[in-house]
Amino acid sequence: MGADDIARTALLEKEIFSDAWSEASVRSHMAGAANVSLGAFPAEDSPGEAAPEAAGYLLGMIVCDEAEVYRVAADPARRRQGIGSALLEAFLGECRARGVRLVSLEVRAANDPAIRMYANAGFANAGLRKDYYRDPADDGIVMRLEL
Ligand SMILES: CC(C)(COP(=O)(O)OP(=O)(O)OC[C@H]1O[C@@H](n2cnc3c(N)ncnc32)[C@H](O)[C@@H]1OP(=O)(O)O)[C@@H](O)C(=O)NCCC(=O)NCCS
Repeated sequence: MGADDIARTALLEKEIFSDAWSEASVRSHMAGAANVSLGAFPAEDSPGEAAPEAAGYLLGMIVCDEAEVYRVAADPARRRQGIGSALLEAFLGECRARGVRLVSLEVRAANDPAIRMYANAGFANAGLRKDYYRDPADDGIVMRLEL
């Protein structure tokens, strides 16, 4: 994604997360040299149409042989269509290409859809951070994938 996708990403953040990243946070993430910002875009119906808005996004980072997923989200109107898993696979493909050995992330213990998606991609539970999240309160589950 690029500068044109900042507003859309922040809008989805606000719609989806209680601790939403602001436009400024998304912009600052995209400017980070080690950061990765992937978007899922619907195919254009006909040439010359306005560029479609992102239907989902993944924000992460890759440093040396380690990577972390910060956010993965799909537009609530387009869930269960493979967007989240496609973004995750694209990120893991980039990780493999760049020699990453370990990918980690943290997820709310109550976030069953995301936990299943990560487990499907090969991530395993690596720890529990008690009462890590607020609004609403929740434990954090650390998940890791060795590539
Ligand atoms: C998690 C999320 C990104 C999944 O995106 P998605 O595009 O709907 O997911 P996919 O269609 O690629 O599904 C991938 C797998 O995830 C799991 N999954 C996704 N939604 C699920 C649900 N509602 N219930 C159970 N499993 C679910 C399934 O294992 C699914 O594989 P399957 O369809 O073959 O069974 C989406 O639910 C979302 O945006 N959630 C809010 C944001 C969030 O919590 N992000 C993760 C923490 S940063």
